[in-house]
Amino acid sequence: MIKKKIAIIGLGYVGLSLAVFLGSKFKVIGVDSNKNRITALGKGISYFYEPKIKFYLKRAIKNGLTFTDKIDREIISCDIIFVTVGTPIDKFGSIDLSNIKAVSSDIAKNLANAKNKPTIVIKSTVIPGTTLQVIKPILEKYDLKESEDFDLLTNPEFLREGSAMQDTIAPHVIVIGGSNQKAIQKLTDIYKSAYKKKQNIVETNNITAEVIKYANNAFLATKISFINSIANICQKLPDTNVDKIAEIIGMDPRIGRQFLKAGPGYGGSCFPKDVQALINFAHNIGYDSVLLNAVKNTNSSQVNAVMSLIKQNIKNLNGKKVAILGLAFKENTDDIRESVSTKIISLLLKNGCKVCGHDPKAIDNTRIIFGNKITYTKSLKDALTDSDCAVIMTPWQEYRNIKEKDVLVMKSPIIIDTRRVISMKNKDITQVSLGIGK
Ligand code: UGA
Repeated sequence: MIKKKIAIIGLGYVGLSLAVFLGSKFKVIGVDSNKNRITALGKGISYFYEPKIKFYLKRAIKNGLTFTDKIDREIISCDIIFVTVGTPIDKFGSIDLSNIKAVSSDIAKNLANAKNKPTIVIKSTVIPGTTLQVIKPILEKYDLKESEDFDLLTNPEFLREGSAMQDTIAPHVIVIGGSNQKAIQKLTDIYKSAYKKKQNIVETNNITAEVIKYANNAFLATKISFINSIANICQKLPDTNVDKIAEIIGMDPRIGRQFLKAGPGYGGSCFPKDVQALINFAHNIGYDSVLLNAVKNTNSSQVNAVMSLIKQNIKNLNGKKVAILGLAFKENTDDIRESVSTKIISLLLKNGCKVCGHDPKAIDNTRIIFGNKITYTKSLKDALTDSDCAVIMTPWQEYRNIKEKDVLVMKSPIIIDTRRVISMKNKDITQVSLGIGK
């Protein structure tokens, strides 16, 4: 049997994870306009840190995965073309579709002279209506027609950074949006042969698939803002612990256990952007969502809850050395986009603090923002030694293992634990945990 040929355009977390997964089963070509990334990937080097990706990348390359920086005839000759480019927001908070428009235009140009009929699959997160109202007209330039010259599906992705491979290998659902049954079947067959186990594949139309993606992220963001509100209440109530409350309410199957970990607020390249884009989109079609605005505002003010805990415990911040433990927006990634740590660092610097940033993976990315305004270390001991306060921002495993003796090297052993990963009993240590009332 001839192996199906698949192109994946845009090699961020979503595109690369899919490429290295499908790459061991099909003939896959990864496309990205960034030449440096392509060169590194061709040598089996991922340009971002993600657990297990190196292993899958090397395995897929052995199986024939190749990379290119151009959308050309070779790409158009593929059976399936996944589009996984980034869809950031512009300065007004609305979705910026310039990457996906440029890619669609390049596909159309090459498709105009092609003989085959590829299935184009939009995996990027796009605001409702984009596939049919924005992408389709671009693809239909040069007298091309959907169904005759190409098929167009919407297939949102739900993987998380830090567990991208695990989520790609075992997705909780596969949503395929489209109107052409043959095209839906073609993509379904690809997924069926890629996965050993039977998958939960659901079919719908393009716009519903687009809404599902935003609804999914907005709901998860709502859960986090909700539990952060409860954490802030617990903070003022002696003998309460937000984790205990989350554990028990999570036993109600109508609520569920996941995404109820209170913290400094959600960050990353998805929730802040997607909640904002949905707010703007809803406004533009005549609906102002009080709930989504509250989710967003609760999240952006959570940084103040963390700052208050720091200020309550160090009276005069000026000149104090503060260790920030965890720079990445979550554990198991080097990504610092919208990381609350960077916001805390900026506020501490404004207050005259000397900041030392610690993170197992995200130091290089943080240095790009703060340069020599702060110091950096990969050694937890160095971060803690002589500091006046340490703030645990990211729940890396390394921080869960912190012992009392590690903390006693501080000038004044004050730990603000925004993720409740440690528990110190020593009377000489001041531990303040977000969401635990004392
Ligand atoms: C999120 C979604 O979880 C994915 O399903 C989705 O595919 C992805 O966005 C996307 O749209 O691309 P991601 O942002 O990578 O994934 O990571 P999450 O694990 O969702 O964490 C997001 C933020 O929420 C982090 O800052 C994390 O620390 C915070 N969080 C998460 C909490 O504060 N509490 C929780 O209980 C869970």
